[in-house]
Amino acid sequence: MKLPNYEEERLRTDKEVEYVYLNDEEYSNFLKDKKYYLKTYGCQMNVHDSEELAAHLENMGATRTEVLEDSDIAILNTCAVRENAHDKVFGYLGRCKHKKEQDKDFMICICGCMAQEESVVDEIKTKHPYVDIVFGTHNIHELPNLIVEHKNKQDIEVYSKEGDVYENVPYKRDSKISAWVNIMYGCDKFCTYCIVPYTRGKQRSRKSKDIMHEVEDLISKGYKEITLLGQNVNAYGKDMDCEVSFAELLEMVAKSGIERLRFVTSHPWDFTDEMIDVIAKYDNIMPYIHLPLQAGSSRILKLMGRKYTKEEYLELFNKIKERIPGCAITTDIIVGFPNESDEDFKETLDVVNTCKYDSAFTFIYSPRVGTPAAKMKDSISKEVKEARLQELNKLVNKYSNEKNQTYLNKVVKVLVTEKSQKGEGKVCGYTEDMKLVNVEAPIDTIGKIVDVLITDAKSFSLDGKLV
Ligand code: 5AD
Ligand code: SF4
Repeated sequence: MKLPNYEEERLRTDKEVEYVYLNDEEYSNFLKDKKYYLKTYGCQMNVHDSEELAAHLENMGATRTEVLEDSDIAILNTCAVRENAHDKVFGYLGRCKHKKEQDKDFMICICGCMAQEESVVDEIKTKHPYVDIVFGTHNIHELPNLIVEHKNKQDIEVYSKEGDVYENVPYKRDSKISAWVNIMYGCDKFCTYCIVPYTRGKQRSRKSKDIMHEVEDLISKGYKEITLLGQNVNAYGKDMDCEVSFAELLEMVAKSGIERLRFVTSHPWDFTDEMIDVIAKYDNIMPYIHLPLQAGSSRILKLMGRKYTKEEYLELFNKIKERIPGCAITTDIIVGFPNESDEDFKETLDVVNTCKYDSAFTFIYSPRVGTPAAKMKDSISKEVKEARLQELNKLVNKYSNEKNQTYLNKVVKVLVTEKSQKGEGKVCGYTEDMKLVNVEAPIDTIGKIVDVLITDAKSFSLDGKLV
């Protein structure tokens, strides 16, 4: 059987990896009649990586099942950003182990950010010897090799360092309407609480020509929406000489004619005036920006290594709101960073009161081994942190609820993406500014942008009907 040798391919083609196994009959039948179960934890980057994992498995002949017990191979694509993600994976492994006890041919694979952590790999080696394959974020493309070559012993194949940027990556996309497009990998920001730069490696941007090639391919396949993806999208290009900036890339993609263009996640420090101008200029760049605050106190922001003060953040926020009318802004906030005082926390609440975010993801700080913040002494109790999270959530929910009420009786444009979970005769999709809407409409509206009259506003979604 002809197996792809990616090391050789990588050297030979200078970042253009050929997925040779796609044409190899034996390879493509290796998992024929087998079912895979794929569980994804964490961020959009992992969701998109899972689209690559699914492509590899389906290219080998496997079909997907949503029921672990029906599967022949289970893949857990893990997240390391907070301790609870870690606990969830080890909890779920118990269920996998139970299945393995009844079916010794059942294959268990662990990949993603947790697999990049040495302590996790040690734990798997010592406490979970029944796990078959462990691989990391830098060698997802090796999954087919690992499966084909797997014998009885545990195979651990994790690269500690990032490699090149791979091109020609196959994806089995979850949607035929809205697609993720990776524009960069890794992160160079090293916020002191964050494990991502360690699990995802240094920032590596894709060449703009490769990105445009993928965008044009998606448009030709009928995609209506593209979301440019990266841990720190607006630092795009900073790791390369003579490349385009994120603002220029955004403009190039907007000019491609895609109906809706989005991007996640932006770092306030890399947010330029040129970006704001481009977003304001093109109607197909959606008026929605996720702009993580993390903390409202400049003292805590400095300890976090965020590179901006509360005042600078607010200045940027106001500039965006002024120059991009109707732009929705959402955020991420961490409470309970080491030694966050009542005063510091109050400043976070003040920023929320000023910005009145459309919505916010809120977290209790979780120490991650190997990060600078994990070494900081902390005198704040768990109870205080939990109380702060509750108080923050109450405020955040108040503003998102208020914002949602402003849509009542208005007509908005919704890109319908799927059948709604909210009952028969309903579909759902997002407004331009990223509000989820459940719409009474026929199924053939899926894939279309339709005008919807908002008839009800809930805390986390809107209801409407076609006009
Ligand atoms: N503890 C809590 N939240 C964290 N995040 C990142 N690292 C941590 C951590 N150690 C949050 C940040 C980031 C989001 C994806 O996760 O708010 O923006
Ligand atoms: Fe983590 Fe900061 Fe990079 Fe975001 S910008 S991935 S929070 S290190």
